[in-house]
Amino acid sequence: MDLDRPMVEKIIAEAKQAVRNAYCPYSRFPVGAAVLTARGRIFAGCNVENASYGLTVCAERNAVFRMIAEGEREIAAVAVYTPTAAPAAPCGACRQVIREFGPEAWVICVCDTDKVIRKRLSELMPLAFGPEDVSGAGEGG
Ligand code: THU
Repeated sequence: MDLDRPMVEKIIAEAKQAVRNAYCPYSRFPVGAAVLTARGRIFAGCNVENASYGLTVCAERNAVFRMIAEGEREIAAVAVYTPTAAPAAPCGACRQVIREFGPEAWVICVCDTDKVIRKRLSELMPLAFGPEDVSGAGEGG
């Protein structure tokens, strides 16, 4: 799926809206994300930290899990917004989670300057492990 500009603007706007709810008292690094599904629905998320630091969940994964909970399965694009001078690309864990539902999804990262990262998930995560790899499990051991 190729994205039209108004749709890209819309998911960026949703990611910017979502960042307002970020719960990040420990890092003070708010992140907002919005997922566009193949059927045209949008789900937003923010990062949620915890006093037990390792339990933190990133904005991107919260958006994807929200999408799944609402019955969608296919990611066309993910927008990520950070109120920073340079855009921040999704962490490795989030890339893996996006990979599950959108191996060719567009990932668009924006910030408070004109700098943008716009890549396919497959560029951000070449040779990724995915559902097709698991389907062969159980044959060898
Ligand atoms: N974070 C995200 O929400 N997404 C990323 O892809 C990178 C990191 C959050 C986790 C944590 O709350 C804060 O940013 C600092 O790492």
